[in-house]
Amino acid sequence: MEDIRQAPIGVFDSGVGGLTVAREIMRQIPNEKIVYFGDTARVPYGSKSKDTIIRFSRQIVHFLKTKGVKAVVVACNTASALALETLQPEMDIPVIGVVLPGAKVAAETTKNGKIGVIATESTIESHLYNRVIQAHNPQAEVFGKACPLFCPLVEEGWLKDPVTVEVANRYLEPLLATGIDTLVMGCTHYPLLRSTLREIMGDKVNLVNPAYETALELKALLEEKGLANDSQDIPAKGKYQFYVSDAANKFRRFANTILPIGVEDTWLIHIEDY
Ligand code: DGL
Repeated sequence: MEDIRQAPIGVFDSGVGGLTVAREIMRQIPNEKIVYFGDTARVPYGSKSKDTIIRFSRQIVHFLKTKGVKAVVVACNTASALALETLQPEMDIPVIGVVLPGAKVAAETTKNGKIGVIATESTIESHLYNRVIQAHNPQAEVFGKACPLFCPLVEEGWLKDPVTVEVANRYLEPLLATGIDTLVMGCTHYPLLRSTLREIMGDKVNLVNPAYETALELKALLEEKGLANDSQDIPAKGKYQFYVSDAANKFRRFANTILPIGVEDTWLIHIEDY
């Protein structure tokens, strides 16, 4: 019988954003294999309805299960906010999202109790960040701001472009005025804009990256459930696999600019079949 500990982790996002989560998993738990799916045909998720996001996420989890994954990371804040609660009880393997780990750290580390959250429209409207932060820190004040232009700018690769800086200034100005000391980058695309965000917010505002916190939570979960891969020799070939629903070459080029490994192949699948 196959050893479940050697099975891969399934990671998915609407597109390239979840690569920031895959990157943290590669750094924090280098022994684990990953099967990544980016829904590049149906991005963006951030402006879609809850029912649609649940349907898309369910199809993706079914696809990932055909790859024999032992756990799934919903590496998309929007899908974590809108679909995770529905999917978790349907699955016979652990499924975790990115909202809870990021919200918890923000709630625990703020000094003045003022926390900003930037995310997609759907994530902000779900109020999940507010609920989780206030559950951990009832005194906290949460200021949410949807930043819908950030994802297309990131997908375009305009990470430090003057247009991106201008857009970021417009979005962040009202948050700066509130006096927040913590800002949650509540969309998996946004850590790629970190240096632009840092410049605008200044050194005194702590930028929380839920991708990093999620990798740590995954590590603890795998250990707790006896699922961590302790094998020392994982062949490099096939250790990290990438699947998308469209534009595989564009995805691969992007992945190669942000991952610490070389991505040679990206496979195209028809996600509506799952
Ligand atoms: N990266 C996704 C998130 O974390 C959303 C991007 C999109 O709108 O598809 O919310």
